[in-house]
Amino acid sequence: MNLNEATALVTGGSNGIGFAIAKRLIEAGAKVAITGRDEKRLAAAGKAIGAHTIHADVAREADVLRSYKELFQRFDHLDVLVNNAGFGVIAPLVEMDVASFEQVFATNVTGAMLMAREAARHFIERKGGHIVNIGSTAAVRGAAKGTAYYGSKFALRGMTECWRAELRQYNVRVMLVNPSEVLTDFYATAGLQQNTNNPTKLHGDDIAYAVQSALEMDDRGFITELTVFATNPKD
Ligand SMILES: NC(=O)c1ccc[n+]([C@@H]2O[C@H](COP(=O)([O-])OP(=O)(O)OC[C@H]3O[C@@H](n4cnc5c(N)ncnc54)[C@H](OP(=O)(O)O)[C@@H]3O)[C@@H](O)[C@H]2O)c1
Repeated sequence: MNLNEATALVTGGSNGIGFAIAKRLIEAGAKVAITGRDEKRLAAAGKAIGAHTIHADVAREADVLRSYKELFQRFDHLDVLVNNAGFGVIAPLVEMDVASFEQVFATNVTGAMLMAREAARHFIERKGGHIVNIGSTAAVRGAAKGTAYYGSKFALRGMTECWRAELRQYNVRVMLVNPSEVLTDFYATAGLQQNTNNPTKLHGDDIAYAVQSALEMDDRGFITELTVFATNPKD
């Protein structure tokens, strides 16, 4: 696709990987809207890169419906949905509480489904569109303490395959991009330590580059799933 003048919606575009994706798409000429729950951070991010901001929580259906209403007040159509909003709870199975488990699934799974459902209704009508789900290497193999987060990313990977099977006939390309560890606030939000001074670790822009490349490929084809590793992350 040609990103110049294309329209894109990036959930969780106020920080980290989503911010980097929104920035790259704008630099490629796209008109971009970003979402997030922290209104102040969202406004600052939108101002920094020239993105339209939509204050919304993907886990709330009413917010999702309003997001598309606001989007179509600003842009007359949508070409690209990037389902990026997500977070992790990392805890052993024997300590897993229902509230934390359900919160992770509400954003990473239900939120992604709601955003994609509304995009798909629009894309089917337009007979075309692009959905990029930001998965994780946690979507392809399990690990200790991964019940909630890894489980949610496996679910996202499964939904990606279902949406692809449903939507290809409408020229909708559904892709999954799986980052390994990236230097963002993700670890701190999950209550985990991350060595942020390690120059060998991935940056948000490395994932944004992968997303941009996958989108820019000719619409004749698409990359179904793309995993991004740091070459030699060392720790
Ligand atoms: N960093 C990594 O190592 C890594 C590796 C693999 C995959 N990923 C995935 O990459 C995606 C982005 O993570 P990140 O590393 O960029 O983390 P981040 O820096 O913490 O950014 C997360 C973004 O998502 C937003 N967000 C979270 N929950 C939301 C909700 N319910 N509704 C709307 N926005 C929401 C946050 O804003 P608010 O909090 O203001 O809503 C923020 O803009 C996630 O899906 C994550 O699972 C990250």
